[in-house]
Amino acid sequence: MKAHIVTLPGDGVGPEVTAAAVAVLKAVAARYEHVFDFDEQLIGGAAIDACGEPLRAASLVACRCADAVLLGAVGGPKWSDPNAPVRPEQGLLALRAALGVYANLRPLQVHPALANLSPLKNERLHDVDVLFVRELTGGMYFGTRTRSDDAATDECKYTVTEIERVVRRAFELARGRRRQLTSVDKANVLETSRLWRSTVQRIAADYPDVRVEHQLVDSMAMLLLTRPASYDVVVTENLFGDILTDEAAALAGSLGLLPSASLGDGRRGLYEPIHGSAPDIAGQGVANPVGAILSAALLLRHSLGLEAEAEAVEAAVDTVLRDGPHSRDLGGSAGTAAVLAAILAALDSPAANTVTRFS
Ligand code: NAD
Ligand code: IPM
Ligand code: MN
Repeated sequence: MKAHIVTLPGDGVGPEVTAAAVAVLKAVAARYEHVFDFDEQLIGGAAIDACGEPLRAASLVACRCADAVLLGAVGGPKWSDPNAPVRPEQGLLALRAALGVYANLRPLQVHPALANLSPLKNERLHDVDVLFVRELTGGMYFGTRTRSDDAATDECKYTVTEIERVVRRAFELARGRRRQLTSVDKANVLETSRLWRSTVQRIAADYPDVRVEHQLVDSMAMLLLTRPASYDVVVTENLFGDILTDEAAALAGSLGLLPSASLGDGRRGLYEPIHGSAPDIAGQGVANPVGAILSAALLLRHSLGLEAEAEAVEAAVDTVLRDGPHSRDLGGSAGTAAVLAAILAALDSPAANTVTRFS
């Protein structure tokens, strides 16, 4: 098949991990006889430096015309002055809104070979397989903001339509998995959460085959650490989902491992690792490329419909997580290039790759 992919490497380690993901997509194209063409655009601090704004209109048009968009990361200390008039992150939020990608899928699994990197006891990590569905285009990220010398506000607003579409997506995804949905809110305090919870309760009637539970976000932050294996699909609003998934990444062993797919109603999606620009290690060639490469696998699956190719990439990554080499965040000493080379080699000999899980 032919596909047109826009890449937005961004800042910090973004270009390093995006280059690795593109190399994997090119290897997939060669092996399976697809034609992928790539168009690189600026976003974030790199775009601010080049043209004064974090995402130019022309770059946004390019993204809207693509089959899929692959993003690295945005932000960094250079652009982080709390009084700066423009910020890299604004480009990312504008992109998510413009593409209408309201459902951010963040899968979490724990590879047995990495279990010792997790702060949790080994036995709690058995069978952890959670799919977070984070609402991505509403809530406090997109409410009205005000700031004066002595006060500031961030409005948190949700409409029923915004809640309903992401919750329905989560129910559908639960149907393809273990039929269990956990909805996370703060309904004991927040009005938006009470609207969220009553909307989930109403929609649940359409999915009698899916078991639904509600958790308050503070309690959920604790439960994720005490019994992570008891969750299947977890759906929540934008800010709670942002925070809970960084916490969840610690279970897998490193923030550098987790991918994401941001989807709307159509096939076009935005794919990015959940980590940021990692300014502390940027430019050193040591970033873990796995989160970005697994995001490329999600791109193959969700935007291009290439399930076998997606599984081949995931199996190659699995093999390298099992056998090494491992990057520094995983306790190894391999750089980004060495991890990429091992994944490409594994992709070349698919018969040797197996997906390893606990038990
Ligand atoms: P971060 O995710 O960039 O880094 C947190 C920690 O995880 C750091 O110690 C970092 O070295 C490590 N880490 C992250 N990715 C890694 C990788 N691939 N391999 C190895 N280690 C990795 O979070 P932060 O430092 O709080 O934020 C830095 C900047 O990134 C901020 O400007 C923030 O807004 C931005 N950010 C962007 C995105 C995005 O573009 N999607 C996501 C999160 C944060
Ligand atoms: C993420 C990031 C972003 C978010 C920032 C950079 C805007 O933390 O993708 O998780 O908060 O959504
Ligand atoms: Mn985040």
